[in-house]
Amino acid sequence: MLNNEKLHSYIEGLFPDRNDLFSEMENYATEHHVPIMELSGIETMLQLLRIHGSKRILEVGTAIGYSALRMAAALPDARIVTIERDLERIQTAKEYIGRSGRAEQIVLIEGDALLVEDVIQSHGPFDAIFIDAAKGQYRKFFELYAKYLTPDGMVVTDNVLFKGLVAEAEIESKRTRNLVKKIDEFNRWLMNHSDYDSVILPVGDGIAISKKKR
Ligand SMILES: C[S@@+](CC[C@H](N)C(=O)[O-])C[C@H]1O[C@@H](n2cnc3c(N)ncnc32)[C@H](O)[C@@H]1O
Repeated sequence: MLNNEKLHSYIEGLFPDRNDLFSEMENYATEHHVPIMELSGIETMLQLLRIHGSKRILEVGTAIGYSALRMAAALPDARIVTIERDLERIQTAKEYIGRSGRAEQIVLIEGDALLVEDVIQSHGPFDAIFIDAAKGQYRKFFELYAKYLTPDGMVVTDNVLFKGLVAEAEIESKRTRNLVKKIDEFNRWLMNHSDYDSVILPVGDGIAISKKKR
């Protein structure tokens, strides 16, 4: 097995330092317990988006704007439409986006992702969709927005391995057990979806890469 802690630290240590703003955002996320995407997960996603050449990206779950800004910096020609419902995080995201010099690349939609389809539709279609919001609702987000993908579109879904818990036979906390069950059901549904080819990569918290079949 190549997936061990030592190797993980080695790989993370090889990623070049992020710029000052991104480091500040990473520290803010740690201090304020904001769950931003793990480093190896986001670096993998950014590389896939570069190879894919995504220009129009929809993100479900902005938090403080970290992944949106990382995508904007990695793909200077891309435009990112990102949805967030938490007012405090929206405010923080706006401040960081304002300071980043990349505000023209990002459209922040304020509201519940399950209720803003009309607005999102007017910004589509999208080459890529990144799902990183309430884990129990992944299938709903996927079903709602995958129809706005371009023919070669792809979907990246984060946290599909949920700290490895999806492979655990017994989970004590009922709440966690229910959430893990929902993620497992999503994974099985996704992997058997007739319109998408999907693969789950054990990087970060586990990311699923789904490509629309032609
Ligand atoms: C894991 S964080 C996003 C992290 C961000 N993508 C990053 O890596 O920098 C998930 C965010 O999704 C938001 N969220 C959860 N469910 C949502 C929904 N239904 N609509 C909009 N935002 C939602 C939460 O408030 C939270 O800020």
